[in-house]
Amino acid sequence: MKSVRIISALLLAAFYVCQAVPAAAVSPENLVHVHTGALSLVLEAEQGSPLRFMYFGDRLCDSDVQALPLSGSPLLDAYPAYGMNCPSEAALSVVHADGNMTAVLLVEGVSVEQEAEAVLTRVSLKDPVYPFEVDVCYRAWNDSEMIETWTEIRNMGKKPVHLTRFDSAFLPVRRGDVWISHLYGSWANEGIVACEPLKPGIKTIRNKDGVRNSHTAHAEVMISLDGRPEENSGDVIGAALCYSGNYELRFDTDDSEWHRFFAGINPDASEYVLEPKETFVTPAMALTYSREGLSGVSRNFHSWARNHMLAHGNQERKILLNSWEGVYFNITEQGMDDMMGDIASMGGELFVMDDGWFGDKYPRNVDNSSLGDWTVDADKLPGGISGLVEDAGKHGVGFGIWIEPEMTNTVSELYEQHPEWVLKPALREPVVGRGGTQLVLDLSNPEVQDFVFGVVDRLMTEHPEIEYVKWDANMAIMNHGSQYLPGNRQSHMYIEYHRGFASVCDRIRAKYPDLVIQACASGGGRANYGVLPWFDEFWVSDNTDALQRVYMQWGTSYFFPAIAMASHISAAPNHQTFRTIPLKYRIDVAMSGRLGMEIQPKNMTDEEKELCRKAIAEYKEIRPVVQFGDIYRLVSPYDGFNVASLMYCSQDKSHAVFYWWKLEHFCNEHLPRVKMAGLDPDRLYRVHELNRIDNTALPFEGQAFSGRYLMSTGLEIPYRHTVDYHKQNDWSSRVLYLVAE
Ligand code: GLA
Repeated sequence: MKSVRIISALLLAAFYVCQAVPAAAVSPENLVHVHTGALSLVLEAEQGSPLRFMYFGDRLCDSDVQALPLSGSPLLDAYPAYGMNCPSEAALSVVHADGNMTAVLLVEGVSVEQEAEAVLTRVSLKDPVYPFEVDVCYRAWNDSEMIETWTEIRNMGKKPVHLTRFDSAFLPVRRGDVWISHLYGSWANEGIVACEPLKPGIKTIRNKDGVRNSHTAHAEVMISLDGRPEENSGDVIGAALCYSGNYELRFDTDDSEWHRFFAGINPDASEYVLEPKETFVTPAMALTYSREGLSGVSRNFHSWARNHMLAHGNQERKILLNSWEGVYFNITEQGMDDMMGDIASMGGELFVMDDGWFGDKYPRNVDNSSLGDWTVDADKLPGGISGLVEDAGKHGVGFGIWIEPEMTNTVSELYEQHPEWVLKPALREPVVGRGGTQLVLDLSNPEVQDFVFGVVDRLMTEHPEIEYVKWDANMAIMNHGSQYLPGNRQSHMYIEYHRGFASVCDRIRAKYPDLVIQACASGGGRANYGVLPWFDEFWVSDNTDALQRVYMQWGTSYFFPAIAMASHISAAPNHQTFRTIPLKYRIDVAMSGRLGMEIQPKNMTDEEKELCRKAIAEYKEIRPVVQFGDIYRLVSPYDGFNVASLMYCSQDKSHAVFYWWKLEHFCNEHLPRVKMAGLDPDRLYRVHELNRIDNTALPFEGQAFSGRYLMSTGLEIPYRHTVDYHKQNDWSSRVLYLVAE
């Protein structure tokens, strides 16, 4: 009995040794310190041992890095592989050609490479028995508080290895009062904030749409380490999986002291066969950390996005009118010309013709035909695109156009010619999408890639004046099946689709580096750092209702900067919610992102047009602050105070724009006074209201206040507008421009 107890005690000890090594055994020369200006990630990489995670968070000084092994923290596997004493979740699982389901990854070496704008640290791991290798990579940016991490999985053997899980990264998060904030939603309700404490068990955030990946959930998460998340205080980790396809983020909270966070491509229905000598590169997970709350993490994401992850992230965006909600499919030459004239007269800079312009044999009059037939409908547009481009020139605005190049309809010439180009399983009739006829093209097929590239290439070759493309994608992969991939590689379909997508986008960007491209996918289906490097911006949602946009844009701003968030003034009643919101409020919400219009100007009164003209002129003034500034979210619409408020401050704190939106109206209610943030306490800021509709100016109009006062006390915002009696309504919003003396 006694010996049984001793053996089980020994087994238990062995178990724990494999799980977490006491850190005191670490010798300093094996420490790997990956860092940016303000972040540190520390690993222990001892030759012949597993790679161990030691620390991620605030930048450590050298002596703290050296002392880390004595901090009492156990060492955890930095990239846990399944099979040998790995009862918890694994980041990697494989099946070798002989059926062996284990992987053991031991450190071979560490290399550090100076890149143009970052430092790349690569830790090479090798299985001692099988010819199988994994590089765990870390890119630390010089000018951004962001560390990207991913893996490169190599089969050095002579037979294929099956990958059944292939996460990009694993991050242990110390238990405590840890909360996560992430985004969920659906079409027309994107970017809704979910905030919850991490409890025992597994929390999974995933996507399996196949094409679009940010409607129902997002691949980004905030992890608040010290209790319920706050906007401007608290220690927060931010993580974003940069992948355009299906993903899975999971938090495993087991009986240990750690929440185990994994992020990677969703392995469901995606087992990957790694051929001999092939390397599988997982998408990067971007990691940041701030001691200034959720907004601090957002600022880190935003500046990294502008500097490295968005096309033209440091160029101002034009103010545009998009034709969709104005005319829908009723495109005519005269109609387009009128709209161009209207947006030009209001000070806008670009006109975008949306859906409905194409189709020869099958004209696109509703959403059930013609995708793939990217030739102008000559009945609607006898002068063709050349005529429109000319008109735009005449009005002094740029010209942009809508396409949905990854798709087709069963009613189209493309489908008649190439039924083998659509995704569908053998022997089965495909399930159809939008309009009862839509299908997704098979981007794993190089011929289809050429076709999709050709859609943009042909437009741009024939009409180099086109400045802007709205690239849409309105269908999920509803048919698991590639007619191009062989039968034994059907599980590669999702991954190959996105490789094809990436290759097409790379070709477009190589040939058309200056083109502005919007990522639209049934609204906000492609708000993701895997997509954005090829795109300038995304359409936040097909829902343009200003009130709902306050919530959606709030959540979306957790990870994405205002410059990327297309935000348009639309009609009242709103076409999605049928809510009637006064123009002033609609403008004030749209002006907090990349301002545009999505409306039929013909239906606007002169007074409304005048208000828009004024707003566009004022937006031009504040555009650098909104599009390049630092965000400080002040009062959340989710907190029940009946107000939402945020501000942007220029990097040098000389200019700021403050937004305040009331969410509901009740007589004599008590609204919070909003303290500002991000200003220089020692400078004086003169306050000027934008988009003013009130008969009398606010008491503080033109007055100067110190940043200290504005941040410790704030201004008293009246909850009604002082307008003529017949103009009164139950909405109220303010935009204040602050300029330092
Ligand atoms: C999608 C987009 C819309 C619009 C339509 C056109 O729904 O999200 O903005 O372009 O397609 O059909």
